[in-house]
Amino acid sequence: MSRPDFRYVRIQGKEFARNTMHAKGIFSMFAKLIQNEVMDEEDTALYNELSDWFSENLPWPPQCRNQEPVICWFKTENSDEMMKMIRPMLWLLERYDCPYYLVYTNTPGEIVYEDKYQIAARVDGFLHIDEVQPSWSPEEEREDKPGTDAGLIARTEEFLKRKFDESEYFSSHEDEKTYRLEHSYRVANIGLQISRAEGLDQTATVVACLLHDVAYCEGPGEGGWREHGRRSAAIARPFLCGLGLPQDLINEILYGIAIHVDDEADFEGERTPLALTVGDADNIDRFDAFRIHETLSREGFLDMSAEERKDHLEKRLARLRELFDLKMGTKTAEELWRERLSYYISFYEKLLSQQTYGTGIIDG
Ligand SMILES: [Fe+2]
Ligand SMILES: [Fe+2]
Repeated sequence: MSRPDFRYVRIQGKEFARNTMHAKGIFSMFAKLIQNEVMDEEDTALYNELSDWFSENLPWPPQCRNQEPVICWFKTENSDEMMKMIRPMLWLLERYDCPYYLVYTNTPGEIVYEDKYQIAARVDGFLHIDEVQPSWSPEEEREDKPGTDAGLIARTEEFLKRKFDESEYFSSHEDEKTYRLEHSYRVANIGLQISRAEGLDQTATVVACLLHDVAYCEGPGEGGWREHGRRSAAIARPFLCGLGLPQDLINEILYGIAIHVDDEADFEGERTPLALTVGDADNIDRFDAFRIHETLSREGFLDMSAEERKDHLEKRLARLRELFDLKMGTKTAEELWRERLSYYISFYEKLLSQQTYGTGIIDG
């Protein structure tokens, strides 16, 4: 932070402040984290302690208090003391996946306030800011080309892989890690297919599906398998808040992740088509060709007697027929589901008929 060639430094995030149309500074970034209840109790307490220190030691420029369009900069010459307290805040920002930049300048613009540690500079020119405009794009065109945000999806993939790579549990269960990552990608691809056909937010659906099982990185937790939807949402929350998505969309994504196991979340949300797509895509992925092979091997099908096999297959078929009409969140998911189930049913029917054919002469 002490770069002798620059007089001023500022720590800022990626999101713009409405009154300045410049990136928000570190204190505004934390105000949002607190408002959205992103940090856990311990970290919130740490932040409150740091914030109290700043309230006592760093004056609050009246221009900031009045929300005038000014930007505050620390003076690099006196920043050492501040930095001692700023460092844990930077650590918190990293912990909650909030990207930040250290921005240096010697030309901050017109200085309207100054104390020992900081200055406030007026933003250039007069800004008139209108409310968010409706999209220029006609409805049909929006539906035709909603597309995905490759950058956001890449950041989500990166986050998921990092969580898996850092996982102590996965480091000793490499095969589970590989399976979980492949499964997450398959679910995301099914989610993408559904969101395209249904006109849902494709990026949000893919992000939600990629992260739906991220809690597997914790291994079998206290609440067991049943908790992993809610745990995944808790792990994904700080990351999603750092992506700059609208709050209601973040909640929709997290709600879908939280309810994908047992239809229950530990926070308020709505069972929207997007939220339901997470569980639907997950269920659809349970019925792929490889799973047939895996299930039959796990159940010891090859070691069963002819009678046991017949019995086993009849029970399986009865269960599959029951599942065939399962209600899903969207029409597209139901179509995909029935397509997968039909494939399963015809495979098991064929296998059953082969068992019967191998036991004697069947007439007719
Ligand atoms: Fe899951
Ligand atoms: Fe899953």
